[in-house]
Order: sequence, then structure tokens, then C-alpha cells
Amino acid sequence: MPAAQMKKPEVIPPHIAIIMDGNGRWAARRMLPRSAGHKAGFDNFVSIVRECGKLGVSYLTVYAFSTENWQRDKQEVEYLIRLMNSGMTSFLPEMKKNNIRLKLCGDLSRFDEQSRKMLDNCVETLKDNTGMVLSICLSYGGRQEILQAVNRLLDEGKKNINEEDFRKYLYTADIPDPDLIIRTSGEIRISNFLLWQSAYAEYYFTDVLWPDFNKEELYRAINDYGRRSRRFGK
Ligand code: FPP
Repeated sequence: MPAAQMKKPEVIPPHIAIIMDGNGRWAARRMLPRSAGHKAGFDNFVSIVRECGKLGVSYLTVYAFSTENWQRDKQEVEYLIRLMNSGMTSFLPEMKKNNIRLKLCGDLSRFDEQSRKMLDNCVETLKDNTGMVLSICLSYGGRQEILQAVNRLLDEGKKNINEEDFRKYLYTADIPDPDLIIRTSGEIRISNFLLWQSAYAEYYFTDVLWPDFNKEELYRAINDYGRRSRRFGK
């Protein structure tokens, strides 16, 4: 069913998180270089941020670059960083206008100075916005996030901490846990994404490759979520 005819979802998950997978396969199917897939993936990221904003999603978290992605071919890593720098710089004025706040999750120290400055500038420019919180996971790994939290707790000499104390040390300290986690491209695994935070999330897996995950697919995922009954183990 085309998006125009598709019913706007009635139940909107407050926090949607997305593993944006399949850019490489999207390019390969078109006999294009992987970089073309990433470019299409970034353009789609911009479209999905817009759609989530229009739907009234409060928090959108995307997995853009994992700790494992550093091991990819040097040229691909460099391309992804250039794409992030140019893409985020172009998207910034629209995010400002649309009242989006930006959060970054991950070990940003691994990025070069130019990229860190660009990212800092985006966060700073958007800090007084009050609408949807967009969190971008960059150089992010769930295990690494948990370990950095444990190490900070040890440095501070903390003992016998509870869940509420622990979550304050995660990158996502000031945002709620995800309600719906979407993964594109047919892979059915979580790949080190939001390991702690996903304890009670609903998962939605689709074969659609990330650059093709359009408004219609987003509605389909949210409508599927709306039909589920969440009991949080009770
Ligand atoms: C997975 O596709 C995607 C990535 C490794 C990250 C790229 C993400 C984007 C370009 C979108 C948004 C970026 C930012 C900075 C917000 P893949 O290369 O693993 O695809 P494959 O599994 O088909 O090879």
C-alpha cells in the first residue's frame, strides 16, 4: 500500500531506535560503489528524521557508526566520516528550524579534530531546542558503553549501585529506554546496540534495505508496534 493511502499510526512509540543496515547491498544491487549506498543511506536518514518529527516521536536514536566499523577498509571509513561532516553541516539549519535537539553517544575521541568540532558545533547550535531529541550513535558499542560506565563508577569509588544509579553513567543517561528498535536489511541480531537500554524494547526486523526504508515502511513498523501488548515482564 503506498504511503499516501496508508493510515497514519495512532500509537506513536515515544522512543524509536534504528539500526540502519544494508547500504552496501543496496549499492551492490545497482552495480554502484559502496559509497553510493552510504550517500543514499544518509539521505534516507534525513527523510526519516523529518518523518519522525512530523509524527511527534519524542526520541529518535540511530546507529550510524559502530566501534567495529573502524575495522572496515580505510577508504570506506574516510568516506563515511566525510559524509557525516558534510551531511550534518548541511542538515543543521533544518534541524534548528524544526526544533530538534542533538545528542551524541559513543567514543568520540576516536574522530579527528575537524569532525569533533563539527559535531560539537551541531550540539551547541541545537542545545536550546525543545522538540524531538535525535541521538546519533557514533563510534558506539553497547559493551564499550557498559565498560566505560563501570570504569567511571570504579574511579569514583562507588559500591553497591542499583539500576537507577547505573543508567546515569550510560551515554543515554538523560533519555528514556527505546520502545521500538527497528533493524533493516534482513539481519536478525542486535550487533552491540543499546545492550542495557533494550531490555524491554519491542523489535521490528524488515528485509528492506536502509536506503529504501521510506515513510511507508516507517508507518508499517510503527503500526506493527501499535498492535503489540507490552507487559514489561509483569
Ligand atoms: C550499514 O550499511 C550502515 C553503516 C555502516 C553506517 C552508515 C550510515 C549512514 C550513512 C546513515 C547515517 C549517517 C549519519 C552520520 C547520521 P552496511 O555498509 O553495513 O551495509 P551492508 O551490510 O549491506 O554492507
